[in-house]
Amino acid sequence: MPQAVRFNEYGGIDVLEVVEVPRPVPGPGQVLVEVRAAAINPGEASIRGGVFAQRWPATFPSGQGSDLAGVVAAVGPEVTGVRDGDEVIGFTDDRASHAQLVLVDQANVIPRPAGVSWDAAGSLYVAGTTAYAAVRAVALAPGEIVVVSAAAGGVGSLAVQLAKNAGATVIGLAGPANHDWLAGQGVLPVTYGDGVADRVRDASHGRVDAFVDTFGGGYVDLAIDLGVRPERIDTIADFAAAQMHGTKTDGNVAGGTAEVLAELAALVDKGALDIPIAGVYPLAEVRDAFRELELRHTHGKIVLHP
Ligand SMILES: NC(=O)c1ccc[n+]([C@@H]2O[C@H](COP(=O)([O-])OP(=O)(O)OC[C@H]3O[C@@H](n4cnc5c(N)ncnc54)[C@H](OP(=O)(O)O)[C@@H]3O)[C@@H](O)[C@H]2O)c1
Repeated sequence: MPQAVRFNEYGGIDVLEVVEVPRPVPGPGQVLVEVRAAAINPGEASIRGGVFAQRWPATFPSGQGSDLAGVVAAVGPEVTGVRDGDEVIGFTDDRASHAQLVLVDQANVIPRPAGVSWDAAGSLYVAGTTAYAAVRAVALAPGEIVVVSAAAGGVGSLAVQLAKNAGATVIGLAGPANHDWLAGQGVLPVTYGDGVADRVRDASHGRVDAFVDTFGGGYVDLAIDLGVRPERIDTIADFAAAQMHGTKTDGNVAGGTAEVLAELAALVDKGALDIPIAGVYPLAEVRDAFRELELRHTHGKIVLHP
């Protein structure tokens, strides 16, 4: 029987189990994907912890995960253009991708280009479409200066590259361990923490046009202090500050389509977007994967191999 991650109550990492489940059968318009790589995301830890219990409640036993890449193992009725054996990148909104076999709507899979590794493919959906939407929201023009917080994280590491591709000068806030990678991407690295506002003013010579916040916890206020207009600020994590200051909040909901996924995959395929992989865990070690993620110092993505 295939294996899948399940949890039966809200809680910490220890509520996560890997259990045997019945083999899913694709219904009309669905494909069954044998997963090769499925990334994990902080939002999944929040769901499991009950942070969204009122807004988007779980039904137990719950699965988890949105990102996936793998090989089509079966197709349901009314599926056209996708066949057994096709290599695909996809996503599910059913909290289900951390599993060996996953049902996916045909509309939510795209072909895996040859130049996109399995790990990059399985990492692309949540972080990639979120970064895409956040950078699009601040409407960068060539030569403008944008600051990205958590610039080497899952979303940030992609946002800095997309902002560079838009022709902006990018200042990336990160710990010292990530400065070399950022510099290698043509990003100006700046250390976060006490005095960060002055360091950004120095690096930007006092002019910041836009701010992409991928961390929360005060970066919207920092952007306002730096003189960035609210419509040029996007946060994917601090919705209270966004409401207070009238900033944008575009993220996965705004960018999460198969079309955007295909655009990102094409960038990876031609070498214009690097997906750093911080760690790879077998499905059975899903707890260890989240233990690493929840330290909040991941550079790029952590991936499960079911
Ligand atoms: N709204 C949406 O659609 C959406 C979608 C995806 C994610 N999110 C949210 O966005 C956030 C980021 O997600 P993610 O996947 O990028 O997370 P992540 O990969 O876990 O982010 C880790 C990064 O955070 C950095 N960091 C830690 N402490 C920091 C601080 N005080 N200031 C600045 N950076 C700090 C770390 O940098 P160093 O290692 O350099 O210290 C590390 O690179 C999460 O809260 C997630 O829930 C929202």
